[in-house]
Amino acid sequence: MYLSLIAAIDRNRAIGYENKLLFWLPNDLKRFKTLTTGHTILMGRKTFESLPKGALPQRRNVVLSTDKSLQLPGAEVFPTLEDALASCCPDEHVYIIGGASLYHHALPLADELCLTEIDAEAPHADAWFPPIDPALWQEKSRDARPADEKHPCPYAFVDYVRRKA
Ligand SMILES: NC(=O)c1ccc[n+]([C@@H]2O[C@H](COP(=O)([O-])OP(=O)(O)OC[C@H]3O[C@@H](n4cnc5c(N)ncnc54)[C@H](OP(=O)(O)O)[C@@H]3O)[C@@H](O)[C@H]2O)c1
Repeated sequence: MYLSLIAAIDRNRAIGYENKLLFWLPNDLKRFKTLTTGHTILMGRKTFESLPKGALPQRRNVVLSTDKSLQLPGAEVFPTLEDALASCCPDEHVYIIGGASLYHHALPLADELCLTEIDAEAPHADAWFPPIDPALWQEKSRDARPADEKHPCPYAFVDYVRRKA
């Protein structure tokens, strides 16, 4: 199994406010779709609830919740991260798509971080991505994009891989 964390973070690593994303960046949504389609997306119950049309198509949707009676259309529900990961095949590519609690829990297990680093500070935030320790994570690629008519601020697609011990 290969485990990636995928997130859009601002300069302060903020990722959300009142269960909504902080920025609307069409190219970020396109990249998210391109990377995750055909693979497994694993998320917390609140992030699932934030999806406007529910489960995302053409992906295995996996949701964590402590509510054992919870049933979600188009998604499999597991009570712990360990149970969810145990359900995955050796060749499965799993993308952790949020939110904050999942990112914190899964970071020590991840192989890769696929971040959109947004060069702005959201005025309000109540959810953050965990700190990225440069001693553990090495930048693999960086694709910087300027602001334009569809994107209110500059941003960069930055991939990190775990440094070899
Ligand atoms: N910028 C981005 O890329 C991005 C991506 C995704 C989400 N977000 C933002 O992140 C925020 C949501 O983050 P959040 O931390 O509040 O919520 P979350 O992680 O999406 O969901 C939290 C819920 O998931 C379940 N859960 C999480 N970890 C679990 C575990 N280890 N075992 C069992 N259940 C677990 C629990 O559900 P129960 O309460 O049902 O037990 C928990 O209350 C929103 O603002 C959203 O917009 C941002």
